Amino acid sequence: MFHVVDTEAFDRKRLDQLCELATAVRRVAKSIDGARFLQQLLPTRRAMLYFTQPSTRTFLSMNNACHVLGIRTSEIRDPEVSSEVKGESFEDSIRTFSSYVDLIVMRTPEPGYAARAAALMDSIPRPVPIINAGSGRDQHPTQALLDIYTLERSFEERGGIDGRTIGMMGDLKRGRTVRSLSRLMRHYADVRLVYIAPPAFEIEPDVRAFLEAHRIAYDETARLHDVLPELDAIYVTRMQSEHDTAGESARVDLSDFSIGERELTQMKADAVIMHPLPRGREIHPRVDADPRAMYWRQERNGMWMRVALLATIFDSQDAILEADTRGLFREA
Ligand code: NCD
Repeated sequence: MFHVVDTEAFDRKRLDQLCELATAVRRVAKSIDGARFLQQLLPTRRAMLYFTQPSTRTFLSMNNACHVLGIRTSEIRDPEVSSEVKGESFEDSIRTFSSYVDLIVMRTPEPGYAARAAALMDSIPRPVPIINAGSGRDQHPTQALLDIYTLERSFEERGGIDGRTIGMMGDLKRGRTVRSLSRLMRHYADVRLVYIAPPAFEIEPDVRAFLEAHRIAYDETARLHDVLPELDAIYVTRMQSEHDTAGESARVDLSDFSIGERELTQMKADAVIMHPLPRGREIHPRVDADPRAMYWRQERNGMWMRVALLATIFDSQDAILEADTRGLFREA
């Protein structure tokens, strides 16, 4: 593994390995000695977190995932405090970061920048891996990874993701998490996707083309209540109003695309409710106490999955798997 620019970085084997590693890591981290063992795996490595678009979970879980493995981090979260304000180009800024660190994790409001950074790295003598932590409306591959991990864990007793019916709801036009997660579904057999959105926020043509090219079964509807009883999981998303160019959000009512107590009664007893967070009004806080609400666990899974990803990039996966298999740090 080197760059993680989009979901093409992962095939089924890699996804299964990362899920297995995330679970091993969290087991090892449970004891103090295990947590210490993880921290001494990569103490000479340094990572740069370059986040010029707001982020809470992705930033904090990446930062803390680095710390779990002993990787030290530095950050720029505001382009106003970097030399870009002096007119330094994006490429020169990235090259500069790469001079000091062993990995760059980046989030930008515009699409395509992580790919540009990776292409730059591939052309210089001392390249470092680039991880895309969200590129505008386009992709969010590490979110898709933790979403896969959450689905796998939730369906553990039911044979995993293969064969499941998964709904995705909300602002599907401008949400990058849905695009990335949809793309990873090509690695699972007999999955059916149901996209639930008002006409103004339907999935983009590139997502449809991808699904068709990879023969992934899907439906689109604006009627949540028609499909809710069939779903094994529903992935709820918020209005992406930061991408408004002409007040689009204000013209669309997303209240029919939300989960509350009434919706809970229509869902399968073992369905899974997910959300990349942050949420707006699309999931009522009263849903949080329902055993089907998985989004807080999903958030925490994100840190462990990012530890697994970092460990894989820096080739520490075998040490972790071995410690876990041998039960080295398991409490008696
Ligand atoms: C998502 C994002 O940034 O795309 N958030 C996240 O990383 N957990 C989803 C969102 O902001 O709606």
